[in-house]
Amino acid sequence: MTKLLDTHALRAIIADVGLDNLMDEMTERLRRSFAEFDEKTVSVIPRSGFSYDEPAFGLLEWMPSMEQGHRVAMKVVGYHPTNPSLNNMPSVMATTTLHDATSGRLLAMTDATFLTTLRTGAASALATRLLAPPDATTLLMVGCGAQAVSQIHAVTRVRPIEQVFIYDVDHAVRDSLETRLPASVRDHVKLSPIGADDLATTLGRIDVLCTATSVEPGAGSVIPDATHRPDLHVNAVGADFPGKVELPAAMVTRGVVIPDDVEQCLVEGESQRLERCELGPTIIELNQRPELAEPLTGKLTVFDSTGWAVEDRIATELALEHATRLGVGTEVELQDFGANPFDPYELTS
Ligand SMILES: NC(=O)c1ccc[n+]([C@@H]2O[C@H](COP(=O)([O-])OP(=O)(O)OC[C@H]3O[C@@H](n4cnc5c(N)ncnc54)[C@H](O)[C@@H]3O)[C@@H](O)[C@H]2O)c1
Repeated sequence: MTKLLDTHALRAIIADVGLDNLMDEMTERLRRSFAEFDEKTVSVIPRSGFSYDEPAFGLLEWMPSMEQGHRVAMKVVGYHPTNPSLNNMPSVMATTTLHDATSGRLLAMTDATFLTTLRTGAASALATRLLAPPDATTLLMVGCGAQAVSQIHAVTRVRPIEQVFIYDVDHAVRDSLETRLPASVRDHVKLSPIGADDLATTLGRIDVLCTATSVEPGAGSVIPDATHRPDLHVNAVGADFPGKVELPAAMVTRGVVIPDDVEQCLVEGESQRLERCELGPTIIELNQRPELAEPLTGKLTVFDSTGWAVEDRIATELALEHATRLGVGTEVELQDFGANPFDPYELTS
């Protein structure tokens, strides 16, 4: 049997566990898997895919990862930034399949749009917990679409955030963000919408910056290179395609850049503007050796989050565990082989 986790199953999990607990669980699972990461047993193949410009810019990528002798996860994720306006669909949509890595059998298939958002938020929570000033109370969110929801949620889980400045080129998206945030955030945080002219002064007032925009490849940075506190922490989430960046080059150069996946970040992330030797420790190394974070105290830190396939396997396994516990999801005979493994034509009788 293959377990299908559709949106009804995910809704049941969220209703039972609660969004705050789910974000905390996801963050803890990521922390543990990063701390225990061993490249001899966990393999990641660089993501690949199709990108196209007609009828509008879009891409469809596959992101495989394997825990040897256990499971292979393969996320197929689309990024179509015109989706919200043209098709009333999210820009980022994904599904993940989970296979048994001893027989190849398909164990599960899940909607991964919510899980992608959850794990991307959780990765920022981990980075923020390790690198942001402990007394951080102010956050600037640049880009107020789908990922902004989990970025703000995640950062408020690990720092005593009181005020969130929000900016988006699309003011309607900016102004609707409050309605999309979980009540636990809405009830405790003051949201302050700002315009493009306020970005420079706001940068001087904040402790944490998150960027998650659909800025076009080649369009340049989404914030000015303005004065900020010397130990500002940045979660840069939206740069995940060659030519697509969100931060000014000078900011990336003077900060310590923490990649999630070195090779991917050098090609697609904020690190495109850096040489390999200019990168700081990875988020995995920081979780394995927290003492590496000590020399970064007082410095500008940039988490270059491009999205790592291992995060998707962890998110799928977390959802599957809850689904099994709650008895939700649908068991389907997607792979019914009959009694004789040598007889593929048994299906005809
Ligand atoms: N790092 C990761 O693991 C990860 C995971 C998921 C998505 N992403 C990336 O995050 C980005 C945002 O994804 P999303 O799902 O929130 O998209 P979305 O379409 O829901 O929202 C993007 C928002 O950015 C705004 N925007 C575009 N250009 C801007 C600019 N110059 N300044 C301010 N706002 C601007 C748009 O108006 C839109 O509201 C995408 O690039 C996506 O590929 C990264």
